[in-house]
Amino acid sequence: MIKIAPSILAADITKLGEEVLNIEKCGADLLHIDIMDGHFVPNLSFGPSVVKALKKISGLILDVHLMLSEPIKYIDAFAEAGADIITVHVEAESDTDECINKIHCHGIKAGIVFNPDTEIEPYKDYLNKVEMALVMSVYPGFGGQKFIDRVLPKVSKIRKIMGNDFDIEIDGGINAVNAMEAKKAGANVLVAGSAVFGAENPLDIIKAMRSI
Ligand code: DX5
Ligand code: ZN
Repeated sequence: MIKIAPSILAADITKLGEEVLNIEKCGADLLHIDIMDGHFVPNLSFGPSVVKALKKISGLILDVHLMLSEPIKYIDAFAEAGADIITVHVEAESDTDECINKIHCHGIKAGIVFNPDTEIEPYKDYLNKVEMALVMSVYPGFGGQKFIDRVLPKVSKIRKIMGNDFDIEIDGGINAVNAMEAKKAGANVLVAGSAVFGAENPLDIIKAMRSI
């Protein structure tokens, strides 16, 4: 079963609440919230107050993607703000085990993220400690980039190791066309920013992506 996670990075921030309620009505499963610190990635985005505000208006699963050099410092704040899943990059400076434990202490799901050039082999042991793996299909930092298809074998490797009962999310440049390739490779959670929020009719795109 494919789950769709629209990324608010591509939403119209002047009417964020409305946009989120609309994609919820259109059948989105998760709400992907990209958090950037201007250090791990060359861009800035949202803080815990945005997560807290969205929690009040939306019933969607809040999927918080931390693109931070020191995620350990901010896990408590995002968990307390209402995150349901927090993902941390294995390339970050913080100890990944410590991050996973801290996330779990809040009774929420933890995930690990792999940048396009990061191999999974050195980090395999973490897979058994988390509920989700996120494979980046663009270099993180900006929405609207082109899908990098050479990350797909990494998705398949994770699927092979973890079996079917595990969430594998793919993030970056996903649209109704390459969603099929991502699904074939083994991804079951598709992040889509520009494809959903940039669409004239998000309902059609979400339906198309889900039914591929
Ligand atoms: C990139 C972010 C993505 C981004 C996806 O750093 O992690 O979640 O918002 O946006 P699109 O779908 O436009 O590539
Ligand atoms: Zn993301």
